[in-house]
Amino acid sequence: MSNKRLSRKEVSHLNYYDFTAYLGMPLFQFGGLKVAEDLFRRCGIDEKSHVLEVGCGTGFMACRIAKEKNCRIVGIDISERMIGMAKERAKSLGIEDKVTFRMADAKDLPFEDNSFDVVFAQFVTVLLDKKKALTEYKRVLKPGGFLGVVEIFRDTLIPYEASRDILEAEKILSEAIELDLRLSTPTQWKSWFTDAGVQKIQTAEHKRVPVRETLKFIKIVGVLPTFKIVFRYLYHLFFNVGVRRRFLPTNRAKKILLRRRNTAKYIGVMICVGLKPAKKNLVVSRGSSINL
Ligand SMILES: C[S@@+](CC[C@H](N)C(=O)[O-])C[C@H]1O[C@@H](n2cnc3c(N)ncnc32)[C@H](O)[C@@H]1O
Repeated sequence: MSNKRLSRKEVSHLNYYDFTAYLGMPLFQFGGLKVAEDLFRRCGIDEKSHVLEVGCGTGFMACRIAKEKNCRIVGIDISERMIGMAKERAKSLGIEDKVTFRMADAKDLPFEDNSFDVVFAQFVTVLLDKKKALTEYKRVLKPGGFLGVVEIFRDTLIPYEASRDILEAEKILSEAIELDLRLSTPTQWKSWFTDAGVQKIQTAEHKRVPVRETLKFIKIVGVLPTFKIVFRYLYHLFFNVGVRRRFLPTNRAKKILLRRRNTAKYIGVMICVGLKPAKKNLVVSRGSSINL
């Protein structure tokens, strides 16, 4: 699907992620590129890796890795519009031989068991049944491969007022994206990884993304394209009643989570990475074995 111009009425019927794709938003840039780079380092992505990105959105990160690491990468997303944009991005960068995009559901990945060296997802798994999704990611991962997620997290101990406001933000966002969004703690993520049978789990927490990370991102995307995205967004917020009604409250939610002093200090972006255990040969009797 190409990003052809839609009427205001058509735009007002788009779901939240299709709307952001329509705006041309390259990435949900909560943690900055620094966090993503930390994830890729921890997952050991290099030119030999075959990588899967789950919920790749418009393919910004998948294309960036394919270019930087010179590896093969597949991006999947449930949104046809996101995948359309991702394919256009890969084509315009001339890297279609390295990166492929297809529509698919994270809960039912269209790949054989043990297909990828690395599977990662950023700001996606929080929207799904964590244990089921992580088990599915692990299924398509080769034994000894890395599984990694980047997610917004909340601290365990939060004063009542801040907790109440964060709950309000979660409700607003869940309504806008039509999915259940509940922030969890790093400990909870670790236990979901453990439940999915992932081992050697490490987490890293990043709080307060520095402004220079946003500036770095704008530099990569380009000032004019960034301006166009912001302009398109503001245009629809002001002149499109349907968009305003459905998506304006998300600004308040983002402010609570990311900028309001007495709530944002309890929120951060975290990485959780672990290994799919390598196959062990259990010797049953001399000369025969079972692959575990
Ligand atoms: C917050 S965005 C993150 C996109 C991208 N990972 C990024 O960091 O910019 C969440 C993405 O997950 C996708 N998504 C939601 N549910 C999904 C599912 N069940 N399977 C695959 N993708 C899904 C949405 O379409 C959207 O592109």
